[in-house]
Amino acid sequence: MKKLIAGNWKMNGGSRDCAVLIASITETLAATPDLLDKCDFLVAPAFIHIGIVRALAHGGGDLVIVAGQDCSEYEDGAYTGDISASMIADSGCSHVILGHSERRQYHRESDEQISKKAERAKDRGLHIILCVGETLEQRKAGEQEAVVAEQLKLFLGGGFDHSNLTIAYEPVWAIGTGESASVDDIRTMHEFIRKKLEENLAHPEQVRILYGGSVKPDNAAEIFGIENVDGALIGGASLKSDDFIAIAAAV
Ligand code: PGA
Repeated sequence: MKKLIAGNWKMNGGSRDCAVLIASITETLAATPDLLDKCDFLVAPAFIHIGIVRALAHGGGDLVIVAGQDCSEYEDGAYTGDISASMIADSGCSHVILGHSERRQYHRESDEQISKKAERAKDRGLHIILCVGETLEQRKAGEQEAVVAEQLKLFLGGGFDHSNLTIAYEPVWAIGTGESASVDDIRTMHEFIRKKLEENLAHPEQVRILYGGSVKPDNAAEIFGIENVDGALIGGASLKSDDFIAIAAAV
């Protein structure tokens, strides 16, 4: 399976910045087909920029997948400020990130809420990138596997279309800190998640497991060399086209 190189742009930049960034990424990819042979590419802009990014992401073919960063747990109605899964699908996105630790932390999202969002996303045929990962306190207490198992639990049952699921392991303490998890930590957790998929799914091999948390051009090769790492979810380094591409080139 190709590696997935996914950029989470979070709440950064204006429409012009996003247009310049996606144009630069697609221009480079169009000129380096071997990168497209090895990797799939995805970017998740803020909702307001999805239209412009979508329009530019497809230059000459489906070069870059465009994703939402979140969706509402409700179908539609009086939920001021929220964006529904159908709106995301309607804007041309095929994927949506759910359960990012910044949503869990700043918006108090629970696993139950995230699984309702996943239901809405599934109803709209969106591919879900489910983020899981422990906090520093949980890791210090040795609880990381229990925490991730709990976060995965609601997603490994019967009703899910697992061909439309990607897991992103993102230890909370490694996000935006410049300090990625160690090779051993990543290997152990990815192996644990892979085992959970194998125990619960008919086709576990369809599910990619990404690593996220301070992935940069200078640590990407080491991270991609770890077994069961099927790509990366990249925050800060995805905001510079050169760094984003350099990470893919490390595959
Ligand atoms: P980071 O963010 O690469 O800036 O650490 C990763 C993420 O939050 O997905």
